[in-house]
Order: sequence, then C-alpha cells, then structure tokens
Amino acid sequence: MSVSVYIARESSPDEPRVAGSPETVKKILSFGLEVVVEAGAGRCSRIPDAEFEKAGARIGSAADAKTADVILKVRRPIAGEIAAYKPGALVIAIMDPYGNAEAIAAMANAGVTAFAMELMPRITRAQSMDVLSSQANLAGYQAVIDAAHEYDRALPMMMTAAGTVPAAKVFVMGAGVAGLQAIATARRLGAVVSATDVRPAAKEQVASLGAKFIAVEDEEFKAAETAGGYAKEMSKEYQAKQAALVADHISKQDIVITTALIPGRPAPRLVTREMLHSMKPGSVVVDLAVERGGNVEGAEAGKVTEVAGVKVVGHLNVPGRIAASASLLYAKNLVTFLETMVSKEEKRLAVNMEDELVKATALTYGGAVVHPAFGGTNEGEK
Ligand code: NAI
Repeated sequence: MSVSVYIARESSPDEPRVAGSPETVKKILSFGLEVVVEAGAGRCSRIPDAEFEKAGARIGSAADAKTADVILKVRRPIAGEIAAYKPGALVIAIMDPYGNAEAIAAMANAGVTAFAMELMPRITRAQSMDVLSSQANLAGYQAVIDAAHEYDRALPMMMTAAGTVPAAKVFVMGAGVAGLQAIATARRLGAVVSATDVRPAAKEQVASLGAKFIAVEDEEFKAAETAGGYAKEMSKEYQAKQAALVADHISKQDIVITTALIPGRPAPRLVTREMLHSMKPGSVVVDLAVERGGNVEGAEAGKVTEVAGVKVVGHLNVPGRIAASASLLYAKNLVTFLETMVSKEEKRLAVNMEDELVKATALTYGGAVVHPAFGGTNEGEK
C-alpha cells in the first residue's frame, strides 16, 4: 500500500494558512507518495480544492487522517485531531512546544512522531526548511503595510503644486529577519528609515539597506551575539543606556516597528508608556513581538489600541494576515524537510532518527518525548 500524506484543514479559526500548495502536492507525488487534501484546507489561502485536485491530490475529509502516514499542518494538532491519527504517523507542524508540555505528552502518548518545524537548525543545509525565516520575512513586510494602513499620512515625500508632503520617519527595533524586511519595505515606500539591534552584525546589514543604525555600541554590545547568531538578554545597565538613547529618537518618529526577540525568553521591553506619550498624535507603533510578551508597553495581543493619540498595533499571527503568500513558503519549507525522510526508489518513508535535522526537530517518537529540551533524551531507536 502506498504511503499517504494528508494535508489538514486548520481547526483554529485564527489560522488562515495551509500546509500545502499545488506545487508541493506535485512534489510529494514525485516522491512516489499519495496526497490527500482535506476539503477546504486552502480556502483562506486562496487555493480552491480544484487547484489541489488538478495538481494530483485527492480531496478528502477529516476521516482520511486516520489512515495517513504523514500529516502536514500549520499548527500543532488539538486533542481531537491527535486521537484520529494512527500510531507511528509523522506529524509535521509549527508545534509551539515551549510551555506546552502536556500537549507534547499527548502526542507522545498517541504514538505519533511529531516534528516542530520552528526547531529546524539554522544551517545552510536547512535554509530552505527554515519556517521562522520564511514567516518572519513576510511578517516584517506586513508590519509596514499595517503601519501604513493605520497612519493617516503618506509615507513617501511628495512634492506637488499644492505643497510638499514630508517623508515619514520609520524606526525599526530589532534587525533580524523580520526587521530587515521591514526596513527594506519602508524604504521602498519612501520613508526615512533608522533601526537598532543589540547584535553587532546587524549594523552592516542595516546600513546596506540604506537605513541609519542607532545603538549603544559598548563592550557588551560587541559580545551580544551568541554562536547561533541570536541576541542575548542584555544587562539591566545596558537596557537603561539603550532606553535613554532611543527615547529621544522615538519622540521624533512617525512609525515604530518592534521585532525584538530572545530565544526562550520573554521579549525585551523596548518602548515604554512615556515614550509613547512623547510621540506625535497620529503616530503608529507596531509590536511584532506581542505574542511573546511584547516589546511595547500597552500593546494588546490581537488589538489596535490608542495611547495618548498613538496607535499601538498588536495583531496576532501576522504571517496569517498575508496568508496566501505565507502558505506557499511554509508549504515549500515542509516538503523540503519531508523529502529528507523519503526513499524515492522504494516510494516509502525512511526516517533516520540520527539525522541532524530529525534530531533537532523530533519532539516525540515511539510513544515517548525524545527532544532533550522537553525532557527527552533523543537517543533515537532503542
Ligand atoms: P529573532 O526573531 O530571535 O530576534 C529579532 C531581532 O531582535 C534579532 O536581530 C535580535 O538581535 C533583536 N533583539 C533582541 N533583543 C533586542 C534588544 N534589546 N534591542 C534591539 N534588538 C534586539 O531573530 P531572527 O530574526 O530569527 O534572526 C536572528 C539571527 O539569525 C540574524 O542574524 C539572522 O540573520 C540569522 N539567521 C540565520 C539564518 C541562517 O543562517 N540560515 C536564517 C535566519 C536567520
């Protein structure tokens, strides 16, 4: 019997993305596997069932999950979904494992092999499987579009016979994947852009995009990048110096976009209520870190609030706001990873638990939690 890959319809009403596309369906078929797409799975990402069918998928229902060997999802499955999966099935999704030990244990108990795409190592081999990058890139773009939407002035300078509209000043805090795309997008829209980060490597990247770099460049800053390329949590002293430097700068900005994250820690608080009060009415602050505790005091998850006439934007699931694009990239990330676990000659799954990508992402296997960060030992087959 051939191996069946099931692309699920997301059960959460807050998730418009889908874990497959006509392109990835064709790709999976080329591995010699079968594809079943749950009816309506692509509806919110503008992929009608007919498009999946044309690509060679069978359109099925939730009942097809029962016989699937591989389940592709955007979000971690809920209890009701897990109950339907057969033991041994591979479930690949954004698992949001931190602080969700019970949900991970439930997948282990069900006997499924769960992979968390967000744990993919950031190495060259896995670049095309990096969901954090593919989704953050679009979130950075969308943050600028959302800011422009809330801002009741033009972003580019316009010289007209009736007078000159000044260019908007945009300040991007956190110049990682999302921040760099926000800088590039704001520049394309004609804004005057500046940016800050605590990693020294960000300085050159910000400058190369034509934005001004603003940061406290002391000894701590020079050592702030981890071997993995991530930010460290900065000392209280550094944070105070950083706040003093940016406070004056923020008061002169029209739009502030914050994207600062520290892996495994709450997001750093970068914009205080006083800073919001110092901004001109009608200014806009977008907090992309709102789901991880927020960079902006007063930002509310899932809401656009107003603090002293400044709009504070805290949309949830920002990649989902640009779902049709986000789904295509996410689906491609998934299928590239799946390809590493397939024997095309034998048209079957061939998961190597010792593979570095598998080891990094596998949360559960053989009825147990195996990932060391979540209590497992990750010793593979025992
Ligand atoms: P992230 O999403 O964890 O954080 C976003 C940004 O916030 C980072 O640039 C971080 O330095 C910054 N930040 C943290 N605390 C801050 C503070 N107090 N003030 C200002 N900024 C602060 O990071 P992301 O976007 O995932 O990227 C991290 C690094 O990894 C970047 O250097 C990126 O270029 C690199 N990367 C490498 C990849 C690869 O080699 N395959 C793929 C993707 C990213």
